[in-house]
Amino acid sequence: MNIPLLDLKAQYVSIRDEVNAAIAEVLESQNFILGPKVDQCEKAIAAYSNCSFGIGVSSGSDALLACLMAENIGPGDEVITTPYTFFATVGAISRLGATPVFVDINASTYNIDVTQIALKITAKTRALIPVHLFGQMADMDPVMQLAQQHNFAVIEDAAQAIGAEYKGRRAGSIGHYGCFSFFPSKNLGAFGDAGMIVTNDDQRAEKLKVLRGHGAKPKYYHRIVGGNFRLDAIHAAVVSAKLPHLDSWTAARQQNAERYDQLFREAELPICPPVVATNRHIFNQYVIRSSSRDLLQAFLKEEGIGSEVYYPLPMHLQDCFAYLGIKAGAFPESERAANESLAIPVYPELSDSQARYVVECIGEFFGQTPAVPMGDELRLVLEPSL
Ligand SMILES: Cc1ncc(COP(=O)(O)O)c(C=O)c1O
Repeated sequence: MNIPLLDLKAQYVSIRDEVNAAIAEVLESQNFILGPKVDQCEKAIAAYSNCSFGIGVSSGSDALLACLMAENIGPGDEVITTPYTFFATVGAISRLGATPVFVDINASTYNIDVTQIALKITAKTRALIPVHLFGQMADMDPVMQLAQQHNFAVIEDAAQAIGAEYKGRRAGSIGHYGCFSFFPSKNLGAFGDAGMIVTNDDQRAEKLKVLRGHGAKPKYYHRIVGGNFRLDAIHAAVVSAKLPHLDSWTAARQQNAERYDQLFREAELPICPPVVATNRHIFNQYVIRSSSRDLLQAFLKEEGIGSEVYYPLPMHLQDCFAYLGIKAGAFPESERAANESLAIPVYPELSDSQARYVVECIGEFFGQTPAVPMGDELRLVLEPSL
């Protein structure tokens, strides 16, 4: 059996007519930059996220960058985040000359360990970027309490978490900003690079709209320096056409995750299935852990199963951040996750027999390879259902 990590063709086949018609409308209008399709998409994503404003941008990476720019963050400023994330989170901080300050992750959720944040706050702290990794939101109440107490901005990196919820509140709606990525592999993917910022603050929304067009207001007059962070109309049309399907795709991902949980439980495999600690995990990824991760991944590849390591090297150990002077061992949970985590297929179209095959193959691997048991201590870190 051949099971990719993600099967975008299966999704496209199911919505081909709607998406093609949406693109055809843009082609007929020849209105490619911003315009009505982008306005419509912004309103729809803002409403979906329970936010007042949506600002379409060129990518999730540029969403993060634009939010930091909107806060005038630059040299001398510190921005707190985790080292166990996609590069863009930390790249945006560094590109502006600000200093990334890392807090380790909670081993159960892979999200920021809120018990360690206070230790890292200084007079220079200007923002915190909680990353809602793999589709589950960070523990936002303590984050927002600290933000209020110490007067810094919270930029939710919700690139992997559109529609996720924390205590009934949508990803992107709790911080001062929420950043989404519509990279094709995300739960709501465009047909190329695209992203969106959501906010409930009208002044921040206005500033972001100016920033995404090189800071011009009116056209050709610049009081601030922005960038070309605009969302293309074709991507906006694709995202709007896909949005009505998102909840059913999320439900299918959740069912797949539950099925895996049950099959792994029955097979008693030492793989630490994901811990669901908030009330709507959207499973952009279903991530298991093993001390024999690399061997397991190679074995699965032989059996035709796609998997991916998100992420093999935490940010504090990346060459480009060596100037921060942080040594291996500084963030043990991030480093352990980088060595052990493996994402397996959880896409909505994954069938029962495919999921069973994945679990069978993992069982076969452990039948041949003695694993270091690592299970239960990881499950005890958080109370269920925040
Ligand atoms: C956590 C996280 N932040 C930011 C980004 C950046 O998004 P984009 O690829 O749209 O620039 C991604 C995308 O992979 C991501 O996963």
